[in-house]
Parts: sequence; structure tokens; C-alpha cells
Amino acid sequence: MKTQVGIIGGGPSGLMLSQLLDLKGIDSVVLERKSRDYVLSRIRAGVLEQGFTDLMREAGVGERMDREGEIHEGVCISDNGVLHRIDLEKLTGGDTVMVYGQTELTRDLYEARDARNGKVIHEAEDVQPHDITTDAPYLTYTKDGEEYRVDCDFIIGADGFHGVSRKSIPESEIREYEKVYPFGWLGILSETKPVHDELIYARSERGFALCSLRSRVLSRYYVQVPLEDTVEDWSDERFWDELKARLPEDVAARLETGPSIEKSIAPLRSFVCEPMRYGNLFLAGDAAHIVPPTGAKGLNSAASDIYYLYHAMVAYYAEGDASGLDSYSETALRRVWKAQRFSWWMTSMLHQFPNEDPFDQRLQEIELEYFLSSEAARTSLAENYVGLPF
Ligand code: FAD
Ligand code: DHB
Repeated sequence: MKTQVGIIGGGPSGLMLSQLLDLKGIDSVVLERKSRDYVLSRIRAGVLEQGFTDLMREAGVGERMDREGEIHEGVCISDNGVLHRIDLEKLTGGDTVMVYGQTELTRDLYEARDARNGKVIHEAEDVQPHDITTDAPYLTYTKDGEEYRVDCDFIIGADGFHGVSRKSIPESEIREYEKVYPFGWLGILSETKPVHDELIYARSERGFALCSLRSRVLSRYYVQVPLEDTVEDWSDERFWDELKARLPEDVAARLETGPSIEKSIAPLRSFVCEPMRYGNLFLAGDAAHIVPPTGAKGLNSAASDIYYLYHAMVAYYAEGDASGLDSYSETALRRVWKAQRFSWWMTSMLHQFPNEDPFDQRLQEIELEYFLSSEAARTSLAENYVGLPF
């Protein structure tokens, strides 16, 4: 098989890029290791920046999102039982975020690829990039026991943190920056009415908690847990009790509980791989960088990579202009590091760190107090939360 752009990974990054390129007449093939049902069963991000929603619309897949997604003009932070609201819209001069689940937007992207006869190959095993430093790179994979080859001009590694793309770059050619946090997030999804109209990020002496939602009848809640904990340690009852103990009393009192329909633990990590290009292989999204989830920057950072890559590819194929491809890594990394900084900062300010010394503990308390009391500081938080410009 021959194509222009060979994409590894059928998550949001890979699907979005293939859809955008297709609308500009650029051919691509997406190779995804898992089945479509499996990809759609992964409950992940929920908050989209305006840059992301604009990209969905540009890709022609914004209709259901605009109909069913919720615009949020503010976000709440609770500090040891006291709720504060950050007025995103007012502080940023009109910007907001959209609550629309990653599962839903991935479904929309799959449907759009189907409608245009896009080539998305599921259950592609042993995907391997070859000759990435030449002008004729290619991919190989096996499916149902048979081996296939895809010749292309460029390979996009959009295969997430554990994918094959980044690992196929020689170690001497990249530098990896990493920070692992000493806790994880236990998340549940429940068919209950969200406790609040807006998200609540809660700092408490018992640890961090987050109240989020997917719709008016579907809630998503998280609590910070020790890394050693497993899902089996957390019955639904224990989860609800702990969540309530970390929220302001009046919020806890109106929390509607019910059986969880999904429960999982995610470790927290910051990670960046530099550069994001090697030869004709370009890394995008989680394949190149991971943030801790506090601040909802994971999926949104993937979106900016796709935006830069898409424009660079269009300039290359339409005008023979390779400058966007040449500057891709530098341009993308500049924004990636800003999202890294914000996610690290939100994480550091809102979680309980085991064995933290009392001085650092006091600094953390006063940091949050300052941010909640100063309009200049709240403006900085709001500007980052709604997303920095692409
Ligand atoms: P992915 O979504 O990881 O997609 C990569 C795809 O590549 C996958 O479908 C995978 O199956 C496929 N793949 C992997 N290896 C191969 C291979 N060798 N060959 C072929 N295909 C391969 N972000 C937030 O903003 N908020 C959140 O609450 C949040 N929660 C998260 C919870 C978890 C458990 C995880 C892992 C991430 C979470 N994120 C969250 C981050 C967000 O989901 C990611 O940033 C986003 O999914 C990145 O999209 P992507 O397409 O780059 O990567
Ligand atoms: C969600 C996850 C986040 O990490 C976040 O900061 C906000 C919302 C969510 O899953 O809804």
C-alpha cells in the first residue's frame, strides 16, 4: 500500500490529523493496535480548550460536540472546605472551556473517517517504522497473521506514551525529561447528577479531589490515592466517603452517590521527549509528552501538536514549503513546556505530598491563598486553564 502520510495510533491525535489532511486532499493511513471498541472504552479526558474545539469544527466534526458539549465559563477551587470560583470568561476577556468527553470526540472522529472512506486499520500488530531518515520511509504491520507494508513520505508517531514510535528513535538522538509523582488518581464514572454545575478542584488535608462531569446525568470524580493502592482497595462506598471528606461540607451534603460504572487508577507523570522529530518521523501527542492530569492539559497539548503538523503538511504538499515541518519540533515544544509548567504547578499546589517538610507545606498553603485572593494571579490561572494560543 502507498500513502502520503503513515500514522501510527488511532487515538484522538492520529484520527484528527488524518481527518484534517483528508479535507485538504492529503492521503493517510492510520494503523491502530487495538479494536475500535477498545479505544472507545477508555475513559480519559473531559475538558477541551477553545483551540481544540475550533480544530474539531475545522475537521468537520464539531456538530455533536456543539450540541451536546457544555460550555463552562468558570471553574471552582476549594481550599480546605471553602469554595472559590475562577471566572474564566471575565478574567480572559471572553474565553471558556468545553466539557465533552474524549470517548465522544473519538467516536465522532471515527464516524467522520468512515463517512470519507478513511483508511483506519484496527488490530494492526507489530507496527514498525523503517528507513525513517530516508526520503522513502515505510511501515510494516501484521494483521490476521499476514504481513503488510505501507510506503509513505512521512510517518507520524501518534501512538501514545507506550507506543513504538518514540522507541524507534536512537537513544543518542533524543533527550527525555521526566518527573514521577508519589501518588495516583482514582477515578470513577457514575450515572448520577453532577454535584456542581462547574468543575471543582479540591485541596484538602486528606488529599486532592476533583468533581467533573460528562453530562447532566453522568459524573466523573477523582481522588488522590497512594501509588500502592489498587482498584480492589476502593469499594464504591469507600470512594464516596473519601470524596465527601475532601469537599466543602455543603457540597458533600448534596453529592448524589450511586454505583460506579468505571473505576481506574492512573499514575501521575510529567514527561517530554526532545526533539519531536527524527528524520521523517514526527511525534505528536502522548507519544512525545505526558502531563499530570491536574489542569486538563493532556489532550489539549496533543491538539496543538496536530494543529502545527497539519498546517506544516498542507504548506509542504500545496506549495513545497518545508519550513513548517522543519520548525515543527521547536514550535510545538514551546507550547508543550508551557502546558507542562501549568500542570506541574496545579499538581504541586493542590495535592498532599507524602513526607513533605513543614516549610514546604506552609508555602503550598500560602501559594493557593495568594492565587485565590489576587486578581492578577487568578487571571494567570484562567489564561492557562482556557489554553494559551496555538
Ligand atoms: P492516545 O490516546 O494514547 O492514543 C494512542 C493510540 O495509539 C491508542 O489508541 C493506542 O492503542 C495506539 N497504539 C499504541 N501503541 C501502538 C502501536 N505500537 N501500534 C499501533 N497503535 C498503537 N488528559 C486530560 O486532559 N484529562 C484527563 O482526565 C486524562 N485522563 C487520562 C487517563 C489515562 C489513564 C491516560 C492514559 C491519559 C489521560 N489523559 C487525560 C491524557 C489524554 O487522554 C491524552 O493526552 C490523549 O489521549 C492523547 O491522545 P493521543 O492520541 O496522543 O494518545
Ligand atoms: C477531567 C480530568 C482532568 O484531569 C481535569 O483536569 C478535568 C476534568 C475529567 O476527566 O473530566
